[in-house]
Amino acid sequence: MWNEELRKKLIEKALETRHRAYAPYSNYHVGAALLTTHGQIYQGVNVENAAYPTSICAERVAVFNAVTDGERQFVAVAVASANGGTPCGACRQVLSEFGLDIIVIVVDEDGNIIQEAPVKHFLPGAFTPSDLDLK
Ligand code: THU
Repeated sequence: MWNEELRKKLIEKALETRHRAYAPYSNYHVGAALLTTHGQIYQGVNVENAAYPTSICAERVAVFNAVTDGERQFVAVAVASANGGTPCGACRQVLSEFGLDIIVIVVDEDGNIIQEAPVKHFLPGAFTPSDLDLK
């Protein structure tokens, strides 16, 4: 199902969503758009907090939004920030839970693709649900 049209749409959604980030402390606005195998797109923004460590990244908000809606199978995620910053370790881990082949597309504020690769590239040797299978 993955094609150029969907890649463009996902990137557009991430760029558009980014403007709704709540990032008064870092002023680093991030938007994420996550495509499910059913063709739905879930969005996420970073949401910061005056108690800094309680803030959350855009990617995880997108995943949690999707899971809350009953979606657990993902094709790709686009992440947009001013400079196309790479996803943090916690977000790499959360994405890994749902599939090492999910394509991660990192774009800057102009939509230029800075990085594009499967989750397994971003987090080699990830701890996954199969690691809990002790048999
Ligand atoms: N941030 C994300 O939303 N995604 C990432 O993968 C990297 C960092 C957010 C967290 C924080 O609100 C701001 O960017 C600066 O770190």
